[in-house]
Amino acid sequence: MTCPEYAIVAEGLTRTYGPFIPGSAGKVAVDGISFKVRKGEIYGILGPNGAGKTTTIKMLSTMLTPTSGLAEVLGMDVRDGKNIRALRKRINVVSGGERGLYYRLSGRQNLEFFADLYGIPKKDQKALIESLLSLVELIEAADIKVENYSRGMKQRIHIARSLINSPEILFLDEPTIGLDPEISRGIRSLIKKLSDGGTTVILTTHYMFEAEELCDNMVILSRGRIVGKGTVDDIKSSISRVSSLKIITEEDPSDVTASLCRENLDAVTSRLLNERYLTKITLNNADRAFTAIEDLFRPYAISSVGVEEPTLEDAYLTLVNEGL
Ligand SMILES: Nc1ncnc2c1ncn2[C@@H]1O[C@H](COP(=O)(O)OP(=O)(O)OP(=O)(O)O)[C@@H](O)[C@H]1O
Ligand SMILES: [Mg+2]
Repeated sequence: MTCPEYAIVAEGLTRTYGPFIPGSAGKVAVDGISFKVRKGEIYGILGPNGAGKTTTIKMLSTMLTPTSGLAEVLGMDVRDGKNIRALRKRINVVSGGERGLYYRLSGRQNLEFFADLYGIPKKDQKALIESLLSLVELIEAADIKVENYSRGMKQRIHIARSLINSPEILFLDEPTIGLDPEISRGIRSLIKKLSDGGTTVILTTHYMFEAEELCDNMVILSRGRIVGKGTVDDIKSSISRVSSLKIITEEDPSDVTASLCRENLDAVTSRLLNERYLTKITLNNADRAFTAIEDLFRPYAISSVGVEEPTLEDAYLTLVNEGL
């Protein structure tokens, strides 16, 4: 199954937890998911709480054995114990929460510790650590104990720690959770920089704008299954609601709105403060009859017409709710 252009190939990947009580059913956290991640892309794994994102990341990063299915990471089967050491040298993970660093040590000492762990020769460590501290903008705070870092600084030193082995694939599980907008933006630009440098990034996030800004491709999970897959545009166009039309008229078009509703179009008119009327019509793929609809409203003195495409959040919510 070796596919050199793919960093990850998952086929029917499944993980069941338990059963913890003998005789009861286990919990299927990831249920037969299949997707491929190209080398160098930023790939998003989205989904509500409990959808199986972290479990997927844990399986792909060799922290958890799949119950069934295939997962090939950098051409190596994650289920084969013989590959685990080799794979761990070539990947790294930043998981949510604040574990994985020594808080009594400074940022620089943490990086030195992990550099030793990865067997990086002492003579190469100084330059590597300086370049990582500079990348995450922690040069000035390098000698302060991590316990005194702010949350944003801790997350940046976590990222620096994860880059110590120059990973070909970096798994980021909710990297901006709980961070303020400015720090989050800095982390997003760092992720872009890493991707531009050729690192494959697997990213989970609950923030749709983050996925929209960063991800080349993504899967949306709901209860362990894939309910959406592809680029942001693929996902937006996979839902039937393609757009909504907003028409502002000088006169009340309620009789037209009522007739559209009788034809099963979702149309609502409301009165605006300045004596005008706003009608919102939700259109499905099959109903892109914009011009015909505009003609119906023309007698009511149209002052503006606008089309609103669905956002990634609209598509996400539709797909997740359909998957329930
Ligand atoms: N160690 C475990 N033992 C038993 N069940 C678990 C374990 N870890 C996760 N689960 C269950 O598996 C399902 C998927 O969990 P997972 O942590 O992968 O979801 P997630 O998408 O990462 O959620 P979140 O957005 O909250 O981080 C959940 O129902 C969860 O309760
Ligand atoms: Mg999670």
